[in-house]
Amino acid sequence: MKIDLDDKITRFLVQEYVNKICHYSGEADLNFNVHKLIHTFDVVRIVQQLMKQTKPALPLKLQKQILNAAILHDLGRCYEFKDGIRLKNTDHGKVGAQLIRKKFPELKVEIQSTLYHNKLPSDKDPPECYPVLDYVRDADMLANIDYEIGHIDVFIIHIFGRNFQQVASPIIDDEIFQAVREKRSVYLAKIKENTLLTHGLWQLCWYFNLRTKAGKKHARQTHIFERFREIICEKLVPMTTPDKKNQTKLKKIIRQTFPDELFYK
Ligand SMILES: [Fe+2]
Repeated sequence: MKIDLDDKITRFLVQEYVNKICHYSGEADLNFNVHKLIHTFDVVRIVQQLMKQTKPALPLKLQKQILNAAILHDLGRCYEFKDGIRLKNTDHGKVGAQLIRKKFPELKVEIQSTLYHNKLPSDKDPPECYPVLDYVRDADMLANIDYEIGHIDVFIIHIFGRNFQQVASPIIDDEIFQAVREKRSVYLAKIKENTLLTHGLWQLCWYFNLRTKAGKKHARQTHIFERFREIICEKLVPMTTPDKKNQTKLKKIIRQTFPDELFYK
């Protein structure tokens, strides 16, 4: 995908990120911002594919809003680090929305969509953002999983830091099983054991969050959730226990909990 800096929305996003990247204060914030900039254009690429797969075609004005919202959704991410330290409890949706409001106050739908994109879909979602939010959230999720399939080791470090061994236990939080039984995404507040495995598996439950027909079709055609489950089994499980028998048992539990059929409904 070619990035078009003649587009004022793209230019604004890239400028914010490049300024942060050029003034990095440590390896962690440099890597994070580079990664998030790449991620943004992965989301843009996927959202374009989803719109293309949507029949009948969406109105052009709506397509432009979806595209803008995809470009801007993680703008606030590049404000997550200060002096090389990742700030806890930063709501990147809120930060991004404030920045867009300042620069482009007329982009009301894109501002609201950025504000809500990192929250679970609910009836609190502003109605004027439908279906922009659905497309952005679906593309965001699919891009994240796609990335993790290819870079699970980098992902672990992004989430847990270099001391991830502390959470590399064979425990799977009960909330994962409950969420699958109820066919819903995981309630993070209910997680008691935030282990490596729990974290990987709660992202498998993101499947239940897919909102657009095109997003569901994309997931089925690319087998993205099945492939992610296999990465969890083959790469994450061996990190959690050296015992081969335990590894086999864990893989069996994961494959039984998340069978292929689950991702075809
Ligand atoms: Fe994102």
